[in-house]
Amino acid sequence: MLMRMVDLIEKKRDQKALSAEEITYIIEGYVAGDIPDYQMSSFLMAVYFNGMTHDETIALTRAILESGETIDLSAIDGIKVDKHSTGGVGDKTTLVLGPLVASCGAKFAKLSGRGLGHTGGTLDKLESIEGFNIDLDSETFVSQVNSINIAVAGQTAKLAPADKLLYALRDVTGTVPSIPLIASSVMSKKLASGADVIVLDVKIGEGAFMKTLESARELSRVMVDIGKAFDKKVIAFITEMSQPLGYAVGNKLEVIEAIRTLQGNGPEDLQMLCVELGSYLIHHAGLSDTLKDARKKIEASIQSLEASDCFRALLEHQGGQMPDLNDYIHAQHIVAVKSETSGYVKTLHALDIGLAAMRLGAGRAKKDDTIDPDVGIVLNKKLGDRVETGDVLAYVYNNLDDITDILRTVMDAFVLDETAPPVKPLIYEIIE
Ligand code: URA
Repeated sequence: MLMRMVDLIEKKRDQKALSAEEITYIIEGYVAGDIPDYQMSSFLMAVYFNGMTHDETIALTRAILESGETIDLSAIDGIKVDKHSTGGVGDKTTLVLGPLVASCGAKFAKLSGRGLGHTGGTLDKLESIEGFNIDLDSETFVSQVNSINIAVAGQTAKLAPADKLLYALRDVTGTVPSIPLIASSVMSKKLASGADVIVLDVKIGEGAFMKTLESARELSRVMVDIGKAFDKKVIAFITEMSQPLGYAVGNKLEVIEAIRTLQGNGPEDLQMLCVELGSYLIHHAGLSDTLKDARKKIEASIQSLEASDCFRALLEHQGGQMPDLNDYIHAQHIVAVKSETSGYVKTLHALDIGLAAMRLGAGRAKKDDTIDPDVGIVLNKKLGDRVETGDVLAYVYNNLDDITDILRTVMDAFVLDETAPPVKPLIYEIIE
């Protein structure tokens, strides 16, 4: 029977489930340009309000996945592992996690994206290293993973092209925060990238898509179930993102923090998260008998500097060099933001810190903005820390003439209180 988009919009509007054929018709029609934006927008809004069943979400994921190329990693020997984060401020986890698991024998074949808005992308961080090349053809990508266990390349436009079109439309139609739409968007790209074991870092809190534990749990469950339907092992970590991860926000600053973490001298939260995510990858890749053994392996690779050497190998294979940590940042000014009052840090608004870093030039407000790799913010205090009047809250690395407003934003991101706040867990739940 001839399908018409208007009938399918009405069906979703009236809370009826669509068949896999109907969903495929919608995605194929939209990518081909046969379904106009106004109909697709209406459909997305109907999904936003009425949700999707398990079968519909699987069908949507499959249709997005099949809209483009999939990466064939079968020429890589061993279990391929991958990781995705729903995005956070100061989130340099991939830079640490990749070398950690690769140095323990897992194959980390990673396709990454650029950052937009207050969250930075892994590619931007790696490209802040002079010479680092993210354009690898698939042969080079596969042979590099076979020889050093790790490669990080830019996601091409050919991977899940429907997702790019849909995401751009969702972004301007108020339909981003929908669980089936986020889950199918994330999972179609992960499945197209070809890994066997995938950890997902689902952030909650300010600046994250999911604001509550319940919604993060639901999103995680849906993504883990999509993994099952495609025979992949998916483990979702629900983690805290009300304050930045680690201390550094900004591209080169984050690279330095990542290297220090790989060498065992990083911030506790970042190190803990990477060790936990890594242990699950190592264990489910069959490289350890228990999670405890996996943790030991990872800690040993930090101790022996094998993890750091693996990062060096990654940089050198892709045209860069291990930076000299003492002579790497070349920002013209480093301004200390000093507290005007005393107390305990009760709130540290991650979103404001991320937006302030973006305004310094560390991130993009628009897709075509250029990034200044040397600028950013290094926090000196974090949640729960005691602050006296005059103490430095953060250092602002910048190349601008007037940053009065940005300094105020950084200052106001810290909310002090007389009593120390309760300690929040970094990892709330692990769903598999
Ligand atoms: N990240 C994605 O890749 N897709 C979404 O829809 C949201 C976050």
